[in-house]
Amino acid sequence: MTGKVYSASTTAPVNIATLKYWGKRDTKLNLPTNSSISVTLSQDDLRTFTTASASESFESDRLWLNGKEESVQGNRIQACFTELRAMRKVLEDTNPELPVLSRYHLHIVSENNFPTAAGLASSAAGFAALVRAIANLFELPHSPEELSRIARQGSGSACRSLFGGYVAWEMGHEADGSDSRAVQIATQEMWPDMKGAILVISASKKETSSTVGMQTTVNTSSLFKYRAEVVVPQRFKEMSAAILAKDFETFGKLTMIDSNQFHAVCMDSSPPIFYMNDTSRLVVGLIETVNKIYGRVVAAYTFDAGPNAVLYYLEKDGPIVLGLLKAVIPEVDGWDKKPSTASIAATVPE
Ligand code: PMV
Repeated sequence: MTGKVYSASTTAPVNIATLKYWGKRDTKLNLPTNSSISVTLSQDDLRTFTTASASESFESDRLWLNGKEESVQGNRIQACFTELRAMRKVLEDTNPELPVLSRYHLHIVSENNFPTAAGLASSAAGFAALVRAIANLFELPHSPEELSRIARQGSGSACRSLFGGYVAWEMGHEADGSDSRAVQIATQEMWPDMKGAILVISASKKETSSTVGMQTTVNTSSLFKYRAEVVVPQRFKEMSAAILAKDFETFGKLTMIDSNQFHAVCMDSSPPIFYMNDTSRLVVGLIETVNKIYGRVVAAYTFDAGPNAVLYYLEKDGPIVLGLLKAVIPEVDGWDKKPSTASIAATVPE
């Protein structure tokens, strides 16, 4: 069968949480146990490029990730397809001249320019790009906030990658997830001297997926409840205010203590979950020492579900942060790259 192929492409950047999401209250809808905050990295650095196509001639929905075909049978991807098709159907019902893309199968081709599933938020960029690409293909008029509810069902943190800059994922309280969505706190331009660096300590796949890790924590950690119910709500207010005030000292302190508490609840799980390794801990020690010597937060570290470090610092302190890391970890590639607003990527030998 021949048929016209309709296509749309988009890119979505990685976001790195500075106030971590860890724990689901509804595993099917990906509803979190706490709100979270992240910084979206620049599109020039870590990003997913995705093309979505639809045609009457396609015989099934298919997905290729980095050149390899992957299953589309998972509930999360199916939830995204179903919601987006329903939105397109509403458009088609009111505009009969539109092609009936909601009835065609989809082919999705997605490429990451960074290691997949190594704690570099690949699923966040991946699902954000998938939802955005299909929304573009379907010419949906919906806002990024509305699309964020769909991306959330693919991977929780993906909802935050629909925005640039500083982004909050409000946990919401509705059982159907209708109010669990991302909103922008501030644009990237609002804080132009904020920089980020990513130290790729290991590019291998993480041992415990975030989904399994989170539920182990929710079911077994006694510290977790205190974090979700008492610590994070207060920290959420303080971090949002620090971003709006461009108060790097407060933002940096909160970022570091929140990363440490996230890894503490992982370790408090049974069996314990370890995402950081010795090199990660070396970086923590180094940054803590520099901050102590200078008597202020020169740089802030954060670690997701993997050993790689993300550092945030102000442009004026770039020479201190990068110079110090280069001196201590000399065989690092990429240190001389000009840091962009979001990041430089560097590989640290294990
Ligand atoms: O969205 P997921 O299921 O990949 O989980 C992300 C969890 C963390 O990256 C550790 C924290 C976060 O808020 O992104």
